[in-house]
Amino acid sequence: MQTSGYARWFRASTPYISAHRNRTFVVLLSGEAIAHNNLPNIVHDLALLQVLGVRLIIVHGARPQIDAALPECRFHGHRRITDRESLATVLGVYGQVRAGLEALFSTGLPTSPLRNADIATVTGNFIVGRPIGILDGVDHLFTGQVRRIHTRRLQAALDSRALVLLSPIGYSPSGQAFNLASDELAADVALAMKADKLIMFDEAGYVYDDAGRRRTNLVPAELDEIIDRAPAAPHVRNQLRAVLRASRGGVPRCHLVSFIEDGALLQELFTAQGHGTQVSEQRASLVRAARQDDVAGIVEVIRPLEESGALVRRDRDRLEQEIGNFLVAEIDGIVVGCCALYPYGDAAELACVAVHEAYRSTGIQPGIGARLLAAAEASARAAGITRLFVLTTQTRDWFAEHGFADADVGALPAPKQALYNYQRSSKVMTKQLETDHD
Ligand SMILES: CC(C)(COP(=O)(O)OP(=O)(O)OC[C@H]1O[C@@H](n2cnc3c(N)ncnc32)[C@H](O)[C@@H]1OP(=O)(O)O)[C@@H](O)C(=O)NCCC(=O)NCCS
Repeated sequence: MQTSGYARWFRASTPYISAHRNRTFVVLLSGEAIAHNNLPNIVHDLALLQVLGVRLIIVHGARPQIDAALPECRFHGHRRITDRESLATVLGVYGQVRAGLEALFSTGLPTSPLRNADIATVTGNFIVGRPIGILDGVDHLFTGQVRRIHTRRLQAALDSRALVLLSPIGYSPSGQAFNLASDELAADVALAMKADKLIMFDEAGYVYDDAGRRRTNLVPAELDEIIDRAPAAPHVRNQLRAVLRASRGGVPRCHLVSFIEDGALLQELFTAQGHGTQVSEQRASLVRAARQDDVAGIVEVIRPLEESGALVRRDRDRLEQEIGNFLVAEIDGIVVGCCALYPYGDAAELACVAVHEAYRSTGIQPGIGARLLAAAEASARAAGITRLFVLTTQTRDWFAEHGFADADVGALPAPKQALYNYQRSSKVMTKQLETDHD
């Protein structure tokens, strides 16, 4: 049977769809991204995230648009000095940019991917600002920074399934508006909202190190080293500094994605290989005991194997009841593999060993399957189990390579022998576990 590329792609993306649901993402749309003709596609993709249940806060910038409106503007370092007259222009530009984005999110033409999506956007005075003051003898006037964020109000807006759209403006209790740096605001909002992701766009869509190598995964310490050495425009460097601060402050995953490539955001978020640079502390896979909320993720991993007959179909209710027997492997918050242990006295059946297709034999050693097996053996040993057995139809050699030996049905515990399905004629394999006394 031929499976279409589209169906394969869609199936491979399902673990991400469940993993992203109800997560909070803060997205910075820089002024450069807003000026690019790929913007409508990015907005469609953001709308798709919203429809899939992602809680979205979008911060926009407007650097090139303000540069055009205020060609004589003064800067101190990378910061624009906003005086009283330029503040009026800046607020006008922000109003225009925000209205443009609201219009795009409202597109309902039959030809648009947004038809029937009915996205509600919300904006407001969520950010309390204060002046930066005088730095190196230079008064920054109405250029400000974040003083406080009304997180509860933002949460309420997200709870109402609205998409929050923020201009980089902070309002002081005295009723003054301050011009904020959009990249700093996005990082501040991501930190205050304990967001799951911070996503920023730039033209290149990847961080390149000083040797010119494209980096798809970085830990914050690596990014810190790269920022000052790698060739990048000052505004890109500012974005990366904001990413670094967010990442070090506890935002689990930050992404840099290209705004010129149509679909880069979706590929970064819904495929194993991604399409951008991810900055995160946690890179290695983690094997842990399964929780009730892993059931959907486990189903995504085992469903194709049940369909192909490699695994016996498990009733979903049974899966929920037996979740305590399961271990899962997780990468970036996504369940990518599982296995289960069913004890029979001092023996245990190892069952449902499965790794999502996109994560098999990744070349990382040990592989995810091998890690799951090692964790299952450790937890069996801790429970005083001395022997594991498996029933397999298609994976005999893999188990053999991991120390399992062929056995016959008589080697199974009596209750399991009674259930043995001769039609399926699975191979029985066992492995003696070394105990601490051996
Ligand atoms: C078996 C499985 C769990 C291994 O996961 P994994 O993360 O790819 O495992 P590892 O990275 O530790 O090992 C990969 C190696 O095993 C080999 N391997 C994978 N499946 C195999 C199989 N069915 N038979 C023999 N070898 C196999 C791979 O070719 C690879 O070898 P290589 O590195 O020399 O190319 C995974 O392939 C899977 O989910 N298979 C389908 C489910 C299944 O049949 N489960 C058993 C039911 S009890």
